[in-house]
Amino acid sequence: MLGARTRFLNAGFYNPILSAVRDQCAPGATILDVGAGTGHYLSAAVDASGGRGVGIDLSKIAARQLGRLPGDIGAVVADGWQPFPVADRVIDLALSVFSPRNVPEFARVLRADGKLVVVTPTPRHLRELVDAVGMIGVDKDKSERIGNSMAGTFVRIERTLVEYSVALSHSEIADVVLMGPSAFHLTPGDVATKLSGLPDPLSVTVSTTVQVYQPVAQTVS
Ligand SMILES: C[S@@+](CC[C@H](N)C(=O)[O-])C[C@H]1O[C@@H](n2cnc3c(N)ncnc32)[C@H](O)[C@@H]1O
Repeated sequence: MLGARTRFLNAGFYNPILSAVRDQCAPGATILDVGAGTGHYLSAAVDASGGRGVGIDLSKIAARQLGRLPGDIGAVVADGWQPFPVADRVIDLALSVFSPRNVPEFARVLRADGKLVVVTPTPRHLRELVDAVGMIGVDKDKSERIGNSMAGTFVRIERTLVEYSVALSHSEIADVVLMGPSAFHLTPGDVATKLSGLPDPLSVTVSTTVQVYQPVAQTVS
């Protein structure tokens, strides 16, 4: 999955999403990425800010890859649903890009003026591949569930729809399908069989929302 993710992201197909994340980077920021994967977004964010970062991932192999990133970046193997191994109120920018969102923990580690950037797929994301290849689709209520989970803890300050089409070859389609949870129920052979007879390249929709949140001000009693 990590090899497919590295190839697909390095080819630039998600660069508009990467740009939207980079836009949130203030100079010298301390950045936390939970479910950081290959570190594609964390690395770009640290590079843009000239600051430092730490990536958390449940996967040891991902964390090893994160630990090898250039720049001032640390890596931790940890479950993002448990308390983060990070002190209170030290993070300027937290990232959750296609990954789990532990809302109370993000609120604990962010500074009062810190920001949380959440990137999630919309139900239109890669929809051509849901039909053609049997890729896992996006729940239509996901956006509402995220909003509900943030309410009272975070206030949303920006919401951007990042939606465009890309022309993907069959091998690029195999990478985008097999870099995510669909890899648990589809093999490269399954994907190749399902793609035979379809145009190569195939036009595919990328559709995500990039939402920026700030912690709700805490009243000190
Ligand atoms: C879809 S990938 C996204 C990776 C990266 N953010 C990106 O967009 O390229 C989800 C990542 O979250 C990690 N992950 C899943 N569950 C996790 C958990 N409970 N705690 C920490 N990481 C987790 C996976 O190992 C994987 O690297």
